[in-house]
Amino acid sequence: MFRSLTQRDLEVIWHPYTQHKNMIPPVPIVRASGALLYDETGNGYVDAISSWWVNLHGHAHPFIAEKIYEQAQKLEHVIFTGFTHEPAVLLAERLLAILPGTFSKVFYSDNGSTAVEVAIKMAIQYWKNMEKTNGKKTRRKKILAFNHAYHGDTFGAMSVSSRSAFTQSFTDYLFEVAFIDPPTNENIDELKSFIQNDSDEIACIIYEPLLQAAGGMLIYEAACLDSLLEAAKSFDIIRIADEVLTGFGRTGKLFAGDYLRSKADIVCLSKGLTGGTMAMGVTACTAKIFNAFFDDDRSKTFFHGHSFTANPIACAAALASLDLLEREDCKERIDKIGARHSAFVKEFNRVQPHEAERVRQLGTVLAFDLKDIETGYMSQLSKMVTANAMRNGIYLRPLGNTVYIMPPYCIEDQQLDKLYDYLSSLPTEFNHSK
Ligand SMILES: Cc1ncc(COP(=O)(O)O)c(C=O)c1O
Repeated sequence: MFRSLTQRDLEVIWHPYTQHKNMIPPVPIVRASGALLYDETGNGYVDAISSWWVNLHGHAHPFIAEKIYEQAQKLEHVIFTGFTHEPAVLLAERLLAILPGTFSKVFYSDNGSTAVEVAIKMAIQYWKNMEKTNGKKTRRKKILAFNHAYHGDTFGAMSVSSRSAFTQSFTDYLFEVAFIDPPTNENIDELKSFIQNDSDEIACIIYEPLLQAAGGMLIYEAACLDSLLEAAKSFDIIRIADEVLTGFGRTGKLFAGDYLRSKADIVCLSKGLTGGTMAMGVTACTAKIFNAFFDDDRSKTFFHGHSFTANPIACAAALASLDLLEREDCKERIDKIGARHSAFVKEFNRVQPHEAERVRQLGTVLAFDLKDIETGYMSQLSKMVTANAMRNGIYLRPLGNTVYIMPPYCIEDQQLDKLYDYLSSLPTEFNHSK
């Protein structure tokens, strides 16, 4: 008996972030090219959110595919203790040269959550190792994070993420974190004095620079963040920048840290790292952090690693993606998307000032909140908009009532027009009164 892929899927697969009861059956995607995803019947969907924010240069990019193929034929994987390989070393060299700050070492892992786990563990153990060096007990136990933050789904990453529906069932198992509001002109003095008062107890601060993505595409000021980070630095608090989403051009510059004067001590990367083709995480740190682990005392070792650490195929994909990213035309595409987004924001605000709230943009990310409807991630709106957009040949996945687009940089002008037209129709389509 013939069973469709969707039927077979529903029998054997448990999807991420999906309530399977009453779920809209998943659409089989059979191929993809550029910004388009194609289903079994040949319908195309503009991937307006870069497949959960990972894709940079378009799907099934021939250059990246070729580099992956070449690498797979040469060396697909090797244990990364006691061995090394060219793609891992070259990628580390190239990343260190472009990261915002003076980083000296790259630690590889598997995804954004593990990149964050590694960063938190590095920061905590840094203070433990310093305790051993100084022979004096450290009081640096406190971790600071921002309200509305999202850093991933593993336990450490969940702990430093704002408490929400995502973390609710695990609250009893998450470690304590001091949550503060992201800095603004209004609260910056208060935040700085909070840091000053607790300064000898704070181990680190973790932040999504300028854009809190999963928290609702919330944008905040570089100047305020700079001021807070400078205060943190003056008290020797380790600054962890989570650039898992903001890295590789999303915010208009190569990294969100490029908008900041105050540079991080540790930075987390993933998502766009491989151009969206392979799972991979990177945690880079400064020499100061690394040196606290460099010792004859073996207990100071960083005991962390994953089977697929520095997978050569993923490294090759990342190198190919960097090649594309560093090309002049890629920068032009990023700038063009930014310029078109900002023109859209102006027009949208002019034509529909009462229909949507907080229309905002940072680089290639454009977002607004639909008004007068149930807010928050649990709202049913997202599901309805996704289904409606699919019928219009677009893939969108709002965060509750926050609708946003973050297209691959290769998106064509007509495809962007299509997205803008659709976004303009949304406030009336999904008005509360309907
Ligand atoms: C800022 C940030 N950090 C970490 C993560 C977790 O990444 P992953 O889903 O690859 O584990 C995400 C995912 O959306 C993210 O946006």
